[in-house]
Amino acid sequence: MKKDLLSVYDLQVLDFELIFEKAKKLKKMLRDGHTYAPLKGKTLGMIFDKPSTRTRISFEVGMYQLGGMAVFLSSRDTQSARGESIADTARIMSRYLDGIMIRTYSQSSVEEFAGYATIPVINGLTDLLHPCQILSDLFTIIEKKGTYENLKIAYVGDGNNIANSWINAAARLPFHLALACPEGYEPDTGILERGRRDAERGVTLYRNPCDVVRDADVVYTDVWASMGQEAEREERAGVFKEYQINRELLRGARRDVIVMHCLPAHRGEEIAAEVIDGPYSVVFDQAENRLHVQKAILEILLD
Ligand code: CP
Ligand code: NVA
Repeated sequence: MKKDLLSVYDLQVLDFELIFEKAKKLKKMLRDGHTYAPLKGKTLGMIFDKPSTRTRISFEVGMYQLGGMAVFLSSRDTQSARGESIADTARIMSRYLDGIMIRTYSQSSVEEFAGYATIPVINGLTDLLHPCQILSDLFTIIEKKGTYENLKIAYVGDGNNIANSWINAAARLPFHLALACPEGYEPDTGILERGRRDAERGVTLYRNPCDVVRDADVVYTDVWASMGQEAEREERAGVFKEYQINRELLRGARRDVIVMHCLPAHRGEEIAAEVIDGPYSVVFDQAENRLHVQKAILEILLD
């Protein structure tokens, strides 16, 4: 039966381990110059309703490196823009392609698409979730810290798709997740409740960023206004101004803390330039790992 990747919550510990082991192997092979083409002759469709730099390039290059190819589909230029239904689009695309990656607004559209598709569907970001990002972030944490087990991961900022996916990961893996979000900008209520119930090491929500950063092994942030929220940018800048990751805030963290950001970043807003460009930051290794981890996902789902 075909498998999808729509949410990190759908994965079991063994699935995470398989992805991380494969990503490590693929990263080494690439570094060593070995050609490895298990997806020869396979194609991935990539539907984008929102912009992307990292996700598009890493999926496209990843397919090429695995011996297959990717087809970029801006939804503006397909018949979806003229009202062709999700059901028909999913059924038609399943006749041509071996897998589909979708970046769009609503999580339910991706789920509906996956329900009609007969090929694997990968969530490349929705307003609710960004599973591929969090999988590669966990891989980066393993590289930097040896493990995610028993670490304290602090998320500071908007309770958005990244925060929700972190909660889903904490519900499945043994690390402690502490989030600091302003009132009215909390993560999704259902995801938070489920995370609190399921997380072995706990999910805690605070208001004050100092409370979550204290003794943290990893400090993570994301933009204050996500794609689609551009009109709220000014208002959000006011609400979130105490939520910037800067040197002063990091004083409470562990001395070997790493700072992460899924990117794109706004220096001087959610993160100070001195931090993102400073010694604790791992953001560029983090971005590179999107390639290796997504190749692992592609090999697992499409091979
Ligand atoms: N982090 C991330 O998904 O980046 P893009 O929006 O550039 O794909
Ligand atoms: N929360 C951000 C993540 C970008 C990768 C957004 O949705 O725009």
